[in-house]
Parts: sequence; structure tokens; C-alpha cells
Amino acid sequence: MSALAGRRIVLGVTGGIAAYKAVEVCRRLVDAGAHVIPVLSSGAQRFVGETTFSTLASEPVVRSLWDIGVDEPVPGRHTSPIPHTRLGQTADLILVCPATARLIGTYAAGISSDLLTATLIATTAPVVICPAMHTEMWDHPAVQENLATLQRRGVRVVPPSEGRLAGGDHGRGRLAEPSTILDVVHGVLTPPSLAGVRVLVTAGGTREPIDPVRFIGNRSSGKQGHALADEAAARGADVHLVTTVDRAAAAGVRCTRVDTAQEMHDVVLGELGATDVVVMAAAVADFRPVGVADDKIKKDAGVPTVRLEPTPDILAAIGQRRRGDQVVVGFAAETSSVREHARSKLERKGADLIVANDVAAPSVGFEHDTNQVVVLVRDPAAETGVREVEVPLQSKRAVAAAVLDVVETLRNDRRVPPTR
Ligand code: C5P
Repeated sequence: MSALAGRRIVLGVTGGIAAYKAVEVCRRLVDAGAHVIPVLSSGAQRFVGETTFSTLASEPVVRSLWDIGVDEPVPGRHTSPIPHTRLGQTADLILVCPATARLIGTYAAGISSDLLTATLIATTAPVVICPAMHTEMWDHPAVQENLATLQRRGVRVVPPSEGRLAGGDHGRGRLAEPSTILDVVHGVLTPPSLAGVRVLVTAGGTREPIDPVRFIGNRSSGKQGHALADEAAARGADVHLVTTVDRAAAAGVRCTRVDTAQEMHDVVLGELGATDVVVMAAAVADFRPVGVADDKIKKDAGVPTVRLEPTPDILAAIGQRRRGDQVVVGFAAETSSVREHARSKLERKGADLIVANDVAAPSVGFEHDTNQVVVLVRDPAAETGVREVEVPLQSKRAVAAAVLDVVETLRNDRRVPPTR
């Protein structure tokens, strides 16, 4: 299950222009299953309307220590006369996004001057802050020393990036990307259940060149493979992602960019010995052109015939060379008879589990942000020798979590000792 499912996250928003990006962070947290309670500083309310957060979050916005349902309780709104202690005590995590220099300074000094700072001081939950400000402010020694103080106390800081700032300026101080912020939140809330485990994930569709400008490809976006790599990293694994797509991976994930099935084969087989879990999420081409034309094939020469030959079947090669203590996961993207094809792949390819999906179904598979799969697990105890785990339609990250839960169960059943 996703580490965020059902977790109470207080989303503190302070007054910088980056507050508009906190709206996206709020939506993504809710999509990942978190229960989000937005707390807006008075500055934040000047940048983004309360209604926006109240609509997207799990509870209406809370603004102040004093305005909460004491005289006239509003349905659905917090009714505690001491909101900061209630919020602080019940939070699983407090995320401040964006965090202004004022918030950082007040929090570091232990001054509880508004609801958010009071909540931060009234909590023992993990705190993640995402600073965003102009470069001059970011570079000021007071801000840097305050951040160092907070980090010493265990606060996680998601550093700003360099880029466009308010007023047309450019420099360091731009709020980190929502996906980076979500990765850090995931990392903080996920128990390190794969600590020290070496996980190799492949992602994306391979490209088999016809000539210097054309290739045979497929519709895989790499999103599911990248989500698996990110989730494994959040669980403490040592992750190597072999991918065909230029998509950022979570911090700590080692990435190798490849294009063709042959390149992917060479990297994966070369690493197999030093791997505990292999997840073949990539959509690998089954055929490639025989030989690549040196020059672009010209239209005037008539319709060309492109002869094809099979590519190496990476998963099958892994199945033949694997050790018994390794867990091998294959994928089956099908458009019909999903279970039947997946079962036969489980047999033929020597995998421990096959993650099967019907890519023709709505919101499932290629290019979407959501997926729905059935995981077929080799299980001698099951009547048919195969156990099925249904994973309903949800974000690709949550599907990744469900797949890795099955991998962990398999490792625990076999009592695989940690590698390090
Ligand atoms: O046989 P099919 O291509 O449908 O099997 C899908 C699974 O096999 C996926 O896990 C895919 O990554 C892997 N595969 C492979 N090498 C190929 C083709 C597919 O490893 N040449």
C-alpha cells in the first residue's frame, strides 16, 4: 500500500508567489491517498484563495488560532479551541510549502506567532520544509543559519532549485518541483523495508533504429517503471534504473539511459549477479530491423522493405541465469485474454511474478498516470500453482507500492536475509 494512504498531513502554506504551486502539491498528496489539512498563513491568503485549498484538500483551510468554530461551529470545520495542539498531535507529517524566510526564522527561534508556527512547535511528527524566496534572501546568513539549526533538529529541508523567480529575476530560490517534494514526503513516511536490497528496474519502450532518423518504438511512457524505481528507493533499496526515457528519478536512484533492446540486455545481464530484485517494467521490442541504413532512406527510392529479426528476450535470459534467492518480476501488457497470456509468460520466462494489465482498458497502462493490474505469483501452495493479487485502478506510484509489497512478501516467505 502507498505509504501516504490515510496519513494525516498538515500542509502549511506561507506567503510567497510559489504558494500557487502548493495547490498542485496538495492535489498530488490527496491523489496518493493522504488526508490533507491545509493551514494558510495570512501572507499565503494574499497569494492563493482559501477556497482553492478547501476544495482540493481533505478538510477546509484553517487560518488562525482564533477563528475556529468557538462561537459558531461550521459543519466539517475544526471545532477545537486549541487547533495548534490538535493539529500538531494528530499529524503524521507537517509539510511547509513554500516556506518563507519569515517562517524559517520564526520556527528556528521557537516563536509561535501564528497557527502554523504554533502547530510546528506543538508537534513531534516529522517536518518537511520547502524554502522558496529570492536569491538574496536565500543566501543571507540568517536564513542559512536558521536552516542549519532546523536540520540539526531533524527537520527535512527540500532545497530550492535555480530558475525563474518572481519579478522576472533568475537564480537559486525557486521552489522545488512538486514531484521532488512528493518523493521526499514518501521517503519520510515509508518504512525502510527494502534497506540494503539491490533492485534493478527497467522502464520505457525501446527504440530500434531503421536509419539515422527513424526507429520502431512503442507507446510506453516509462511512468510505471519510474514509479517502481522511486517507490523502491523510498523503501531504502539501492536502485539502478535502466530507462529509455528522459524523466527525473528520485534522489539516490542510479540511472542508465539506453535506447535499444540489445543495450538494455547488455546492461541488465551485466548487473544481474549483483542484483536481488529485477523488475522488467520496460516494453521491450520483440523485433528489430536487420541492419540499420547508414543514411536516411529516401522517399524517391520507392517504398522500402524493412526486414525484421528477433531482439534478445531479456526476461527469458534472466530466467535462465538467475539465482534462486533472486526475485524476478515481468510485465505483460495485453489487449485481450490478459490472465491466460500472463500465466503462460510466468511459465515460459522463469519469472516469480508477472504484473499483467489490459492496456486497452480506459485509464490503464501506456501514458496514463493511473494503472490497474493483476499480479500473478508462482505459489506451490495454491491449487493452480499460481496466486493472483488484484490491484485496483489507482496512481502508478500506488500500483508500484502494491507490486513491491508482493515482492517483499515473497522475500519474507523465502526468508531471504538482507544482503548487507
Ligand atoms: O513476451 P512479452 O514481450 O510480452 O513479455 C513481456 C515481458 O518480457 C516484460 O517484462 C518485458 O520487459 C520483457 N521482455 C524482455 N525482452 C524482450 C521482450 C520482452 O525482457 N525482448
